[in-house]
Amino acid sequence: MTLDALPTHNELKGHAKAIKAKHMRQLFESDAARFNKYSIQGPQIFLDYSKNLITEESLSLLFHAAHDASLKQKTKALFSGELLQGEALNNTENRAALHTALRRPKDSTLPDIILDGVNISKNIRACQDKMAAFVAKIHAKQLLGFTGKPIQTLVSIGIGGSFLGPKMVTEALKPFAIDGFKCHYVANIDSTDLTQTLNNIDPETTLFLLQSKSFSTLETLENAYEVKRYLKLNGLPDEAIAKHFIAVTSNKTAAYKFGITDEHIFPMWDWVGGRYSLWSAIGLPIAFQLGMDNFEALLEGAFEMDQHFQHQDFEENMPVIMALLGIWYHSYFGADSHAILPYDQYLQFFPDHLQQLDMESNGKSVDRSGHALNYNSGPIIWGGIGCNGQHAYHQLLHQGTQLTPADFIVSLSSHNPIGTHHKHLFANCLSQSQALMKGKTYEEALQESLQSGMPEENAKKLAPHKVVKGNQPSNTLILDELNPKSLGTLIALYEHKVFVQSVIWDINPFDQWGVELGKTLSNSLFDQLESGKNDKNIDSSTAGLLAKYPQA
Ligand code: F6P
Repeated sequence: MTLDALPTHNELKGHAKAIKAKHMRQLFESDAARFNKYSIQGPQIFLDYSKNLITEESLSLLFHAAHDASLKQKTKALFSGELLQGEALNNTENRAALHTALRRPKDSTLPDIILDGVNISKNIRACQDKMAAFVAKIHAKQLLGFTGKPIQTLVSIGIGGSFLGPKMVTEALKPFAIDGFKCHYVANIDSTDLTQTLNNIDPETTLFLLQSKSFSTLETLENAYEVKRYLKLNGLPDEAIAKHFIAVTSNKTAAYKFGITDEHIFPMWDWVGGRYSLWSAIGLPIAFQLGMDNFEALLEGAFEMDQHFQHQDFEENMPVIMALLGIWYHSYFGADSHAILPYDQYLQFFPDHLQQLDMESNGKSVDRSGHALNYNSGPIIWGGIGCNGQHAYHQLLHQGTQLTPADFIVSLSSHNPIGTHHKHLFANCLSQSQALMKGKTYEEALQESLQSGMPEENAKKLAPHKVVKGNQPSNTLILDELNPKSLGTLIALYEHKVFVQSVIWDINPFDQWGVELGKTLSNSLFDQLESGKNDKNIDSSTAGLLAKYPQA
């Protein structure tokens, strides 16, 4: 059922109008228990959602919407792989979406998942054993390069979900990195990316990991073949190539063709979407850089959020609450974007990962049956680390015209404590959500200037410029410490938030047909650049721009 067909839709519309007339200042002033009412301690994460434009009525209507959208039933399909009304959850690709199966503990008492007659739980365990043995061999310095030196560097070549998740995690968990081993990432077809990496490695001690579910992605393959040429130039004999390449893929045939041996191929499955794949062997850079124990702790954290999401009532369910708040703003208040503001240097790539997770999942304009949506769906996800953003784009959050919900993420401890730095960081984080909520009235702005001694006429002129409207919603998420387990929980929280929103908006979050058009057009334009001949039907803008490219 689409959002506009839900029984509560019109009530939600009417209620949104009433809430728009209120200010969050009033909501806090009239209810001393607001923080206690609208905050929740989940696994590893505390969520304060009291600074939102909501009352008990808003939440009650939103929880009703979730029930009416069959969220319980669809969540069951997500975790079991069962069909939904005869269709796979990822109906346009006819696939299950079973990334949560990857985080089940090895000693789990849950029954194994059988999909199309295949025991996928058994296959996952076998893959994890292979990963563990492989990274242990590297860490024991027993995996040798072509000159007999031990492998110490991993270059992970992949793009999109085969890059963003592992990169974000290895950056976020740097304090847990194993000394003496270094992981680099190459994603872009811009040769600067590969060149800069190759300039910083020693080919004799480097292993190249080709991360591609399809093994057909242009950027990844072009970079992989270039690395092969580079290794040959650096003295690698043909027969030694296999020693320096490993792959994670579901397309074994293509990997063999490239020259990678069975022993060096780790599986990917069609029931794992790229943006949900860091939990699979695509997480090899994580296991390489942090060790298998830390990779398993990441899975454990995600599993705890899976349990919370499946079993808590909606009223106490973190991903459900965060998802419904997003629905509230994007579908009923016209908000276009959502800011992710981690107050933790190590989380600098977290917004990038969430951009793919959220926007590639819910950036859709038709429902599951292909009918156009009559409401806004996925928001634009953006953000960056605090405090840096405070001296840049936060101005728009405070005084811009649009409503922009934000998530503040902060931990209670620093891995690099210095004096009062962390206290300042924490205070700044809280000050921003407080300022966004309260704002500053005209009267407050006027008095502030008058008290500083400014003449009344000038103070009155300046006051409107100093007014901060406030009433900007935000969530604050607090971790005790940023570590493998809490990071796993945090990532899974957002995965489930995106899923819940897809259910309420009635869209398929597991396909990404939109990105295909650009791929096809880019191949055609490349051919035109190579041949120097334009396609007759090409538009004048693209033809004019093509003509700018230097002729060989
Ligand atoms: O272009 C989008 C996409 O298909 C993503 O969904 C995926 O994560 C990425 O490309 C990489 O795909 P692959 O792992 O098959 O190379």
